[in-house]
Amino acid sequence: MNTAIILAAGQGKRMNAASNKQYLILKDRPILAHTISTFEKCTLIQQIILVVHEDEQEFCRKNVIEKYKYTKIKRLVKGGKERQESVYNGLMAIDKETSIVLIHDGARPLITEQVIQRCIHGASAYGAASAGVPIKETIKIMGKDRFVSYTPKREDVWITQTPQAFQKEIILKAHEFAISQEILGTDDAMLVEHMGIKIKMVEGDYENIKITTPEDLIAAEAILNYKRKR
Ligand code: CTP
Ligand code: MG
Repeated sequence: MNTAIILAAGQGKRMNAASNKQYLILKDRPILAHTISTFEKCTLIQQIILVVHEDEQEFCRKNVIEKYKYTKIKRLVKGGKERQESVYNGLMAIDKETSIVLIHDGARPLITEQVIQRCIHGASAYGAASAGVPIKETIKIMGKDRFVSYTPKREDVWITQTPQAFQKEIILKAHEFAISQEILGTDDAMLVEHMGIKIKMVEGDYENIKITTPEDLIAAEAILNYKRKR
């Protein structure tokens, strides 16, 4: 069984909005509803665990879960202070029948079924996989003095996205290890890398942006309009 953990428990501080960014309307529905709908439709996903801030659970239930009549959401779990804690709470709620766990940012509403499928196949074959895209610009690694330390070859640098998918035992061990070593990662793959396990990078999508600052919402709306015309 494949279980998706969808994270919606952040505060969206960089969005500077009056409400949590997950509930802002993108075209016709809340951002989070776009995200969940794609997982709901994907036949390779059997269950969804939704991680939501404690104070927003009622709001989410009413305005997202019940409104759009999702059937795959098995549990609503409360979020933690850091993203990593929210993921851990989600991991503690998965059923023992789960073999592959996908972790996805609720704030990436333009996720496609194809990218979800590639992540699942990557995790089945290699244990751990992340969606990603090659960087389009040249990256500079900086020294503390703000002088360029070196320039990595562009073809070696990828931007990581979510979903990230893992065989259950691997991601559980990686999170337990991170807690014991006090490692705080910015993504889940990083915690797995700390265990010496390799992450397979699978093809993500340049359109799979994370809504972080206000202009991202404008970009997402433009992408949706353009997608519907294609
Ligand atoms: N997230 C979460 N629990 C947290 C922090 C983040 O579930 N304690 C989720 C967010 O809801 C989001 C995803 O992780 O879907 C990616 O995080 P980010 O884009 O940083 O969102 P926020 O933390 O909400 O935004 P900000 O950092 O600007 O406050
Ligand atoms: Mg954040």
